[in-house]
Formats: sequence, C-alpha cells, structure tokens
Amino acid sequence: MKLCMIGTGYVGLVSGVCFADIGNQVVCVDKDKTKIDKLNFGVSPIYEPGLDELIKKNFLAKRLSFTTNINKAISTSDIIFICVGTPTRKGSIKVDLSFVNKCTKDIFKYSKRKKIIVTKSTVPVGTGDEIEKILKKKKKLFTIISNPEFLREGEAIRDFRYPDRIVIGSNEKKAFNTMRKLYAPLINKGSKFFTTSRRGAELIKYASNAFLATKITFINELANLCEKTGVNIEDISLGMGADSRIGGRFLRAGPAYGGSCFPKDTKGLVSAADKFKINLTVVKSVIKSNQERVNLLTQRIHKILGSNLRNKNISFLGVTFKPNTDDMRDSSSLKMIPYLCKKGAKVRYYDPSGEKNEFKKIKNCKYRNNIKSSCNGADLIILLTEWDEFKSIDFKKVVKNTKFKVFDLRNLYSAEEMKKNKIKYYSVGRPDAN
Ligand SMILES: NC(=O)c1ccc[n+]([C@@H]2O[C@H](COP(=O)([O-])OP(=O)(O)OC[C@H]3O[C@@H](n4cnc5c(N)ncnc54)[C@H](O)[C@@H]3O)[C@@H](O)[C@H]2O)c1
Repeated sequence: MKLCMIGTGYVGLVSGVCFADIGNQVVCVDKDKTKIDKLNFGVSPIYEPGLDELIKKNFLAKRLSFTTNINKAISTSDIIFICVGTPTRKGSIKVDLSFVNKCTKDIFKYSKRKKIIVTKSTVPVGTGDEIEKILKKKKKLFTIISNPEFLREGEAIRDFRYPDRIVIGSNEKKAFNTMRKLYAPLINKGSKFFTTSRRGAELIKYASNAFLATKITFINELANLCEKTGVNIEDISLGMGADSRIGGRFLRAGPAYGGSCFPKDTKGLVSAADKFKINLTVVKSVIKSNQERVNLLTQRIHKILGSNLRNKNISFLGVTFKPNTDDMRDSSSLKMIPYLCKKGAKVRYYDPSGEKNEFKKIKNCKYRNNIKSSCNGADLIILLTEWDEFKSIDFKKVVKNTKFKVFDLRNLYSAEEMKKNKIKYYSVGRPDAN
C-alpha cells in the first residue's frame, strides 16, 4: 500500500520505517528540513536501538523516502497517517492541536482522490469529529479513522512488530478491512486486532496511559510509606504484582514519571473530561502527586548532603526519562539539575545518549562522556536512569573521593552489598542499610 506519515518524529519515523519493512511504499514527510536532510543522508535524527539499520535497508530497497514536500507526499499516497506532536498548551492543561489542524488543512488542500486519514497522534476524544469538520467540503474523498500508537521509546521497533493490540476506531466498517490488510503481517504473528468506534479508540489511548501513570504514582507513594516504616517496597511490588488481577509491571518505585506521553496525556485526559463536565478526580491527584515527587526527591538530596549544597560535587548518571532513548521531554532531571545548580552545587552528568542542549546554558553543569569522568571526585552520585551500563559499577574504582555517597533512584544495587563495601547508599522505598 502507499502510505504517507506526516510528522517524522519518534512515532512517525519508527512506524513509517516498520511499515516499509513489511512491504509498503512509505513516504515520511516533515516540516523540519534538518531532520529530513539527515534521513536522506542515512542518519537517524533520534536514538532508537535498531532504527539506523532498518532505515538504510528500506531506503536502499526504495520502499522508504523522506521529504519536506507535503503536497507530493499527500497526493501520491492512499493512506495518510497523522503523526505530529500533541503537546500540552502553554499555561494550560489542554492539548495543543495546532499541529494536527495544520496538517489536516494540508490534507484538504492537496487531496484530489479518495484517501483514508488515520490519526496515530494521541488526540482527545472527539478530535476525529473536528478533523471531519475541517475536511467537510471534500467529505466524499475521506474516511477518517483513529489508530492510536502504543509503542515505547527504546523498545519501539519490537513494539511495532509485536504489539499487544492494534486498535482501530472507525465509524465506517469498510475501513476496518483496509486496516486489517495493512496490519496482516502483525496479526498473523498473533497481535490482537481490536475494532471500536473512532471516539472509543481515541479514549482507549488516554485511558491506557493514565492508568499506567496511576500505577507508577501509586507505588511511588507507597515507597514513601515504606521509607517511614522500614518495609522494602520491592516486597510490596512483588506481593501485589503476583495477583494476576493487578500484574507486576509498572509497579517499580522510582522518580516521578516523565517522558513525552504520561505527563501530557494525563493532563489531556483531565481537560477532555472537563469539556464534558466530568471530574476525573483520580487522574487529577495522580498529576499532583507526580509533580510533588520531584520536590520530595530534592528534599532527600538535602537530607543526604545537608542544607548547604554550595560547591558540592554531584554526578548524575542518566538524564533521560528512561533508558535507550535520547528523549528529554518531562524528565525529572530537567527540574532537579537546575535546582541543584541554583543552590550552588557543581553538577556533572553522563548519559549514553549524549550531551543535552537543555543543560548547555547552566554554568555549573557539565557533560562528561563516560561514567568515570562524571563520577570522579563526586560527593554524591545520583542514578537517575537505568541504562544497562549503570547496573554494575565498581564505585570505589571510579570515584576518587573516599567520602562519596550514592542515591539510587532505580534501586539497581543491593543495600546490603553497598554496606559491605562501606559505601553510603540510599535508594527508594527500601530501608537504608547504612
Ligand atoms: N514518543 C512516543 O513514545 C509516543 C508513543 C505513542 C504515541 N505518541 C504520540 O504520537 C504523537 C507524535 O509523538 P512524537 O513523540 O513522535 O512527536 P515528535 O515531536 O517526536 O515528532 C513530531 C514531528 O511532527 C513534525 N510536524 C509537526 N507539524 C508538522 C506538519 N504540519 N507537517 C509536517 N511535519 C510536522 C515535527 O517537525 C516533528 O518532527 C504524539 O501525539 C504523541 O503523544 C508518542
């Protein structure tokens, strides 16, 4: 099939490349020329394991192309996927749909024959109806459906190839057959193909993300209680998670949830519900609790290092919101590092995905390109992101300071082992062995 992905970011690029890999003709279009130039040069603009190889393979096979020419991309395709960003509007909890609206107007302008329009972007319930209104004057040309994306950064290719479910929302039954054909290679390998109304599909995506965010927030709050009661949060997670009605995933205590989806989608869901005069109190308190978590963790840093942080050397290992991605959106580090620097601490950080623009302007924050030079001479090492290379560090070898401490926000190490090695060690929701 001839597909067009509008928006060549984490979702548009990965799904475009993977659709090409299962035999479709795919054109990825983006308004960002630098991104498209890089791609045409064979370089991925994002860090995603396995993606470079797949881009090259499908580009050389002439199934995949990249362009900034939206007119050509739309007019030559049968199915148009909208994959643009849907961030939170500045100063509000509402979803900014301006990117979706802009590309819908482009679709209207450049379409001269029948097309299926698919929203892959996460959009509030009822957005498909709004898209339909924009396309009204050519309504015979378009079938507008929803196919929300559930891939996780860092696992995106695997998630595309083996999704738990493929959700298609449409008010016209015939669109289900086309989408079933498109996804047949994945359905044949066992992925569930789930059909519902267009609004239903839009809401499933928000409901899923809000529920996962709720699980994380729940276990993070229980970790606070564990710290006061001397209970190990990991026992609680295992004990609860063994109940198949609950399930063990997303029950690992740690920093506030971040990333490009949970923070904005929880807010987006609340604001969509507000529009229909429905008060989602559970999701509202999840948002509040998650926002408070960053303050709680900085308070713990003060407890570990004292109230005066001036000239304290702090090393961050990992600054992205999770491993195997370069995505910084809503990562806890974006609040923690500027706060600590403002208090006079000297921060060094290492992240396997490279230096971050977000910290370049902070005077006392420096990037180091390996664990050793980030940790050398540190008073405190903060393990923020669970990249594999942080899981078995010989701290005594890498930190040339006898009095250093470790604050492990991912519970990667055993408190007992650290005690045996005479390292002052703090973690989340577990009794300190110091
Ligand atoms: N990142 C994820 O893990 C993930 C997972 C599932 C769903 N989603 C959803 O998918 C959507 C896209 O997310 P993302 O992370 O890929 O965003 P992104 O910011 O990485 O990419 C969006 C791209 O769209 C481009 N763009 C914007 N307007 C355009 C236009 N009019 N024409 C052409 N290109 C345009 C931007 O330049 C950008 O490259 C969002 O709604 C998001 O919530 C994201």
